[in-house]
Amino acid sequence: MAKSISNRYYLDYNATSPLAESVQDWISKGDFSFGNPSSAHTTGKRAKKLVNETRDYLFNLFGLNENEFHLFFHSGASEGINTLVRGYFLNQFKNKNQANYYFFQTDHSCVFNQQDEVKVFEHRPQIFPVDQYGMPKMDSISKGECDQGLLNFTWVNNESGVVWPLYKAVEMKEKLGCSVHVDAVQSIGKIRDWNKLDSDLDAYTFSAHKFGGMKGIGFTFMKKTYPFECFVRGGGQQEALRSGTENVMGIYSIKLALEELNQKQNLDESEKVHNEFENWLQNKVGQKGIIAGIGNVSRNLTTTYLVLPGNSSDIVMTALDLSGIEVSAGSACSSGVLKPSRILLGMGFDEKQAKEGIRFSFSPLFKSEDLPSLFEKLGKVLDRYL
Ligand SMILES: Cc1ncc(COP(=O)(O)O)c(C=O)c1O
Repeated sequence: MAKSISNRYYLDYNATSPLAESVQDWISKGDFSFGNPSSAHTTGKRAKKLVNETRDYLFNLFGLNENEFHLFFHSGASEGINTLVRGYFLNQFKNKNQANYYFFQTDHSCVFNQQDEVKVFEHRPQIFPVDQYGMPKMDSISKGECDQGLLNFTWVNNESGVVWPLYKAVEMKEKLGCSVHVDAVQSIGKIRDWNKLDSDLDAYTFSAHKFGGMKGIGFTFMKKTYPFECFVRGGGQQEALRSGTENVMGIYSIKLALEELNQKQNLDESEKVHNEFENWLQNKVGQKGIIAGIGNVSRNLTTTYLVLPGNSSDIVMTALDLSGIEVSAGSACSSGVLKPSRILLGMGFDEKQAKEGIRFSFSPLFKSEDLPSLFEKLGKVLDRYL
């Protein structure tokens, strides 16, 4: 889908995506089971079937083995990642271990903002830097004081679109002798081989609203050997890993959305769109703009993060919105206050430039035939700021 209703260009797919058509059709038919999957009667069993079908589909799609990994659903990646991190450190605390919490300057806030929480149990946060291309500085990866540790590894960065190959996570795991969680939220549909997970790593978290599923639902694969205490306690659903009646509709929307994406996606076309867009943009802005991470071949197929020095990102974003192009100022926080982007700072931009980033994030289904009309609209707005 290139344009949303009213002929607007929705280029903010890293923030969220529209519901997949198959999900919309399914909801509009209204023939889903409302049952509680824990109920033993027929209506409950119908609901359970939808959950189980989705589970089987996910294990199969991502090539992981049910004997080796747990899979549990939650309300989305923020909850999933909080659960994994706190579950890990609480478990270490109960076992009277201190552990390192390793993460990067450019990780999502749901990773970054847990550093104070882990300190409560006297664990040790340790932040690693990235280079100007947004890649991990491998020589800075060194083991902390504790024997145990958990590393968060962001596969695809939500602001810059920079991709860290999973083999680097395996290297870090060996070097640090720790467990590794992969924040895989921005991978689906945005890189080649997004469904090829490495079973040497310990956990992976995804969020459905980033690929056409419903909001408020996500899933995590977690190795059965992962040190863990559950976060949401209650009736013991989902092997007691995350209690609470399952969000059956949300769960099934994951299967429908992924099936549709798999069927419709053309990664060569996504690459073509991305290349044409960035070539055009570079020509347009010349020396007056910088694409973050440009020159790094390890970037995804859908994201372009443009810094326009001298132009605060909220102003450019509003002008684009008024002309029908929806993007994000990567650094805007939920309160709407513009803060310097941690990601741009980490990549070496200064405080001022870190408030001047505009993120274009395309649908994996965007077609190159829609680019000329986008260029016309976008060009007119950019002309005012160059
Ligand atoms: C890389 C990354 N991790 C985690 C999250 C949190 O996801 P959710 O919105 O499902 O809580 C996001 C959302 O933007 C993200 O981009």
